[in-house]
Amino acid sequence: MKIRAAENGPYLIEVSEAKVLKEGKEDVISQKIIALCRCGQSSAKPFCDGTHKKCEFKGESVEIEVS
Ligand code: FES
Repeated sequence: MKIRAAENGPYLIEVSEAKVLKEGKEDVISQKIIALCRCGQSSAKPFCDGTHKKCEFKGESVEIEVS
């Protein structure tokens, strides 16, 4: 699995499928890339909703390879 912190943006996680458990509900995500909020301002936490652009979040790009 690869996790990438986009420059000035969210954590991007490449997956084939993921289960999300939130407030007792389970959702299955089959997207190839999941974007998780890193700026703390998203109204769709834990997911990124693009608000990082409005709040001008700054963060460097980092890539992590998990085996
Ligand atoms: S990183 Fe995109 S809304 Fe927080």
